[in-house]
Amino acid sequence: MIPVAKPLVGKEEIEAVRKVLESGMLAEGTVAHELEHEFATYIGTKFAIATSNGTTALSTALDAMNIQPGDEVITTPFTFIASANTIAMLGAIPVFVDVQRDTYNIDPDLIEKAITKKTKAIMPVHIFGMPCDMKQIMEIANAHNLLVIEDAAQAHGAAIDGRKIGSFGHTAAFSFYATKNMMTGEGGMIMTNDEEVYDKAMMIKNHGRGKEGGYSHHRIGYNSRMMDLVAAIGLEQLKRLPGVLTARRKNAAAYDKMCFELKGIRPQVAKKGFESAYHVYAPCLNSPKMNRDKMIEYLKQNDVGSRTVYALPCHKQDTYLNIRDWRWARFVKYPNYAALKLPNSEEVGAQHFEIPVHPSVTDQDRTRIEQLVRKVLS
Ligand SMILES: Cc1ncc(COP(=O)(O)O)c(C=O)c1O
Repeated sequence: MIPVAKPLVGKEEIEAVRKVLESGMLAEGTVAHELEHEFATYIGTKFAIATSNGTTALSTALDAMNIQPGDEVITTPFTFIASANTIAMLGAIPVFVDVQRDTYNIDPDLIEKAITKKTKAIMPVHIFGMPCDMKQIMEIANAHNLLVIEDAAQAHGAAIDGRKIGSFGHTAAFSFYATKNMMTGEGGMIMTNDEEVYDKAMMIKNHGRGKEGGYSHHRIGYNSRMMDLVAAIGLEQLKRLPGVLTARRKNAAAYDKMCFELKGIRPQVAKKGFESAYHVYAPCLNSPKMNRDKMIEYLKQNDVGSRTVYALPCHKQDTYLNIRDWRWARFVKYPNYAALKLPNSEEVGAQHFEIPVHPSVTDQDRTRIEQLVRKVLS
């Protein structure tokens, strides 16, 4: 079976974890700070804040940007539910706008129509590692005085004209979940150039502790720290990342070629100058020869991992259909999510299927996957 995802772990990660175990300092300390420094250098921001996972990175960043109950944050529904949930957790309102049919990412032309007096921020999600159009998004944000938080959970190493994703917004959040291009098992990172946001985020993730440390606390916060034990894995993974990206891009280029040669299948499109991190490769299938669910079954029967990722966009999930049950619904007026019609998100949700693109997919594996797809669609 060629699995759909496979973490790359070698002797280096094992040795790094062993060293931390032997050091006696397992919780957050110098190793997490080293990862913050190295990752900020890699992405190209002044500051990075290590967190316990991508969800806490997003929620801490939103909190540090002062997103308040009742504020509206514009995002897309074709994403992992954490994007929307981190907005809702703070009592803010996720405002879903549709994605572009070809890039699966937020349609910048629809953002402006969704802006109201309550809009405070935009959360573009670089879905599957594909960069959103950050130039246009930042122009809209600046024109309307809105903050931008990039959900870069899937986009380690993605870039636009050489500039790394995670360096465009006022803040950005990465996830180092076990299957990500760069992983620590569970882990996350906030990026920012804004010292005030940095100071606030550092406090929020650590029970409001100030720089002086000890047991004086200045605001409500949480424990969203990253352990040195896992940060050590992250440092090794960061060294692997360029090679991982090269391998993923090579596999994706071959799959793209296949999709363009066949009828009834279309890939997620990278615009000129946009480099995806290809965390996920998931083309859309719309063919009389085979439907999406049968394609997944057929691939699995032939020992190729395949699945849908976000078959149900966020606005179709019970979480948002039942939002009146959420604690903030007593204070905040939510849109009627059930009435939302977001045709591109729904179409991509209904048609995409993931195939293995990770670095452990060999040339032979990829040829076999291509042969299977070609056989049914030719
Ligand atoms: C788009 C997106 N946002 C947020 C998250 C949340 O990250 P984590 O799972 O590390 O909490 C993920 C993780 O899978 C994600 O894919």
